[in-house]
Amino acid sequence: MKRSLGVLIVAIAVGACSSSSADAPALSDNAAVHPAKLFTGFDDGSAEYKVPASLIGASDSTTVRWTIADTNLATVETEQPAVGEKATTRMTHHAIVKTKKAGTTTLRASVNGKTFDVPITITQYAPGARELGNDLYQEDRASMPGGQPGTKALGCIGCHGAHGTARHSPSEIGGYDDASILKTIATGVKPDGTTANNGNHKFTLDMTEQQGILARLRSLEPVEFPQ
Ligand code: HEC
Repeated sequence: MKRSLGVLIVAIAVGACSSSSADAPALSDNAAVHPAKLFTGFDDGSAEYKVPASLIGASDSTTVRWTIADTNLATVETEQPAVGEKATTRMTHHAIVKTKKAGTTTLRASVNGKTFDVPITITQYAPGARELGNDLYQEDRASMPGGQPGTKALGCIGCHGAHGTARHSPSEIGGYDDASILKTIATGVKPDGTTANNGNHKFTLDMTEQQGILARLRSLEPVEFPQ
């Protein structure tokens, strides 16, 4: 189902950047796009794969323009106001890339004659991979008392589903390549060196299952823009 981009929650703290005085520089010295590299996917077109990015370090009154080098591979839109919300210049600091085809291209943020380029890797996932990933994600009923053996399920949903607090949407994993995500799943060590669930996060997946889980995670709806 197609969902409005307006549902994305802007995670940038409102208070932190409220001083938009006229002489604030358009860009700070350490302005950069977060994340510095983007990873997402594509399958047979049956699901949408989206990944968010933000230009950090631009003043609220500065407009950012986003483009994709190869528009055959992906499109980019800025953050859209939610229903009843007013569009602001600041929303142009946030972009969402939507894929059309696998391959590699570049996302560019242009502001005040300056450009910031971020490489995008769009991985091809096999048709059906996502469905397998969705099954693996579910509660493992087979190993529960009285449970029947059936489709393999690893119970990710218990901590990561609607009732769980741990998040791994493209907002959290869009800067990580597939190998890094698989390492987190298998070892509990995240790419930033911190541990997931105190390291109690060790799931064994064969190669087909790995592709399935990656397709599922990459096709989740992003929940916020990177900070
Ligand atoms: C017992 C609870 C639990 C279960 C079950 C679980 N996870 Fe996690 N997972 C976590 C926690 C906690 C984190 C850390 C979240 C954070 O750092 O914000 C995490 C982190 C992750 C991350 C990294 C997110 C990031 O920010 O880099 C991925 C990817 C992930 N889990 C995938 C899975 C998959 C796939 C499964 C099922 C095979 C699974 N998890 C099952 C608790 C769980």
